[in-house]
Amino acid sequence: MAGFEEIDGSLHVDGLPLSQIADDIGTPTYVYSCDVMKAQYDALAGAMKRALPAGRQPLLCFACKSNSNVAVLSYLRSLGSALEVVSEGEMRRGIKAGFDPKTIVSTGVGKTDSEIAYGLTNGILQFNIESLPELHQINKVAQGVGITADVVFRLNPNVAGGGHAKISTGQKFNKFGIIDEMIDEAFATAASLSHINAVGLSMHIGSQVSTVESFKTAFEKIPGIVARLRAAGHTIDRLDIGGGFPIIYKDEKLLDLDAYAQWVADIIAPLDTQIIMEPGRYLVGNAGVLLTRTVFVKETPARNFLIVDAAMNDLIRPALYDAYHAIEPVENSDAPSVTYDVVGPICETGDTFATDRAIPQMKQGDLAVIRSAGAYGMCMASNYNTRGTPAEVLVKDGHYSVIRERQSIESIIDQDIVPDWLR
Ligand code: LLP
Repeated sequence: MAGFEEIDGSLHVDGLPLSQIADDIGTPTYVYSCDVMKAQYDALAGAMKRALPAGRQPLLCFACKSNSNVAVLSYLRSLGSALEVVSEGEMRRGIKAGFDPKTIVSTGVGKTDSEIAYGLTNGILQFNIESLPELHQINKVAQGVGITADVVFRLNPNVAGGGHAKISTGQKFNKFGIIDEMIDEAFATAASLSHINAVGLSMHIGSQVSTVESFKTAFEKIPGIVARLRAAGHTIDRLDIGGGFPIIYKDEKLLDLDAYAQWVADIIAPLDTQIIMEPGRYLVGNAGVLLTRTVFVKETPARNFLIVDAAMNDLIRPALYDAYHAIEPVENSDAPSVTYDVVGPICETGDTFATDRAIPQMKQGDLAVIRSAGAYGMCMASNYNTRGTPAEVLVKDGHYSVIRERQSIESIIDQDIVPDWLR
């Protein structure tokens, strides 16, 4: 029984009642299904297997930023995934989860010396460089630790892609990557540096890419640039084509994975390089829900408020991106619909998960799930309003394991230090 489905009027995950998890460990709690993650991984890897020969399969580097729990990382590694990281913290998580450093790719526009040194001394596969100052800095740090850094340059293809302005990355006014006009200079500079080995290009146009043809448009920019760089004597042995595959939150147009894989086969594979991909949301987004309990139902002449115990500090996507997340009761899904504003307890109006949403009628104490919360949910949680971050649970074969305890309030408060002169 894979995924989230109703059994005997009660929502289950991989055959386990969600109410059992709530009763055992409380709410709000993130719940992840191994089966859904595996289905997503197999769908993506399978499409690539159908389109590309066995010896040319891409390295699928899971974007750690989308869900960085070490247990989730370990599970994805067990499926065959590699890893993309954006900080030393994520690198450390990846290594703790057992990833071979040779399968870890480091990205990000502001890599610090300690991050660079940590990656180099642990022998990661490559740094994806986003600017000329970063190139010089990696060379300097690499010289310091006596290791030559394998790097690729992130191309900014100047293609619109991301589903929301805040997560679109591939246009020239975005902070990401190096524009075509500056790529030759980057490779020429790299050739002159003692501890840099430039081996290719990377690209990532955005996240939840809604116009899926944008991937093809961006791919089509690559062959000409590769030919030009090779003609100038530069090595292009690796092409990292990024992530950004959309999932369904509401009624999005999904990427046809076979069509995508065919674009890779037709446009990227003939360039005869190793191929790297960086999927995040696609692998984990629909595998997770945020399980929450109704604190109060507040009915007013203007609105019906469903006040739940999850809040914007637990899942910030609706507040930050106006993101839609489906919300369903765990039980009594056949009750007549009521139009609710689903809100959390935090002291601002932005703490709203849904406005004017028709949901089966709920009462105080009832459980609900906020769907598609497996990506960019827990990893973006904060302690706003001195709320502890939620617990996380991983479900496999009808059993669950707590993979992160609910954060205690004491542990948050204990981090503050009152100076002696105030005591
Ligand atoms: N590679 C790079 C270089 C990235 O910056 C990202 C995401 C990914 C891969 C993975 O993208 P994905 O396959 O997950 O779309 N917090 C936002 C999303 C931010 C995405 C940041 N970069 C959200 O909640 O929608």
